[in-house]
Amino acid sequence: MKITVINGTMRHGSTWHCKNLLVEKIAQWEETQVREFYLPKDMADFCSGCFSCFLKGEDSCPQSDQIQPIVAALEEADLVILTSPVYGLDVSGQLKALLDHLCFMWLSHRPNPKMFNKVGISFATTAGAGLAHTTKTMQNSLKFWGVKKRFASKQRVAAMKWSDIPEKKRSQIEKEMAQLAKKATASVANIEHSTAPLFRKMMFKMMKQAMIKNDWNPTDRNHWEAHGWLNGTKPF
Ligand SMILES: Cc1cc2nc3c(=O)[nH]c(=O)nc-3n(C[C@H](O)[C@H](O)[C@H](O)COP(=O)(O)O)c2cc1C
Repeated sequence: MKITVINGTMRHGSTWHCKNLLVEKIAQWEETQVREFYLPKDMADFCSGCFSCFLKGEDSCPQSDQIQPIVAALEEADLVILTSPVYGLDVSGQLKALLDHLCFMWLSHRPNPKMFNKVGISFATTAGAGLAHTTKTMQNSLKFWGVKKRFASKQRVAAMKWSDIPEKKRSQIEKEMAQLAKKATASVANIEHSTAPLFRKMMFKMMKQAMIKNDWNPTDRNHWEAHGWLNGTKPF
C-alpha cells in the first residue's frame, strides 16, 4: 500500500505517535511504501493570494517547486494521511498554508481524477478542546479533493507530549489505531467497489453547470472540457 503522510507539525509528539501506530499496524499486514512530508520544512511559504494557480495553472504558483512534489505524492498514494495538533482550536498554521495552496484541485476548480479512488484519514490531537473544528478543516480538503472514503482519528490526550500521556490512555489509543488500521486497509482493498460519496456526485453536478457558463476562468473550464466532463463523460 502506498501511503502519503502530510505531517502538520515537525514534532514527534502525540499526533505523530498516533499516526505512526496506525502506519506500523498496516505494515504488519502488508507491504507499505510510506512518503512523509513535514511542515513547514517541506512547504514553508504562505499562499500570497495571487490567483495564479486558478487562472494560469498550478505550475505558475510562486511556490510550485515545493507544491508539485507533494501533489505528485498525493496522486500516487492509496492512502492519504493529514495530521495536525490543535492550535487555537484549529489546524496548525503550517498545515493550513499547504491546504490553501491545494485549493486549485478542489471539485470547485480543477478536480484531479487521481484523487478519486483514495482513502483519506485525518489525525488530530488536543490537550482539551478543538478536535471537531480541526478535524473539519482537514476533512474539508479531503472531501473537496474528491477522496472517496474518509476516516478521522480524534484524540483528547490532555498532555503536552506523548510521554506525559498515562499508560492506560496510550494503550487505549493503540487499540483504536489497530481498529482504524483494519478499516483503512479493508477500504483501500475495496475502494473500486465502494459507494461514492453523495456529496461528490452533487458537487460535481453543480460545478458542471457552473463550468458550462464559465466565462471568467478559461483554465478551469478547459480542464473540465479536456476531461469530457462538459459533454457527458462522468469521472465516477
Ligand atoms: C500553539 C499551541 C496552541 C494550542 N492550542 C490548543 C487549543 O486551542 N486547545 C487545546 O485544547 N490545546 C491546545 N494546544 C495543545 C495541543 O493541541 C496538544 O498538546 C497536542 O496534543 C500537541 O500535539 P503534538 O504533541 O503532536 O505536538 C496547543 C498547543 C500549542 C503549542
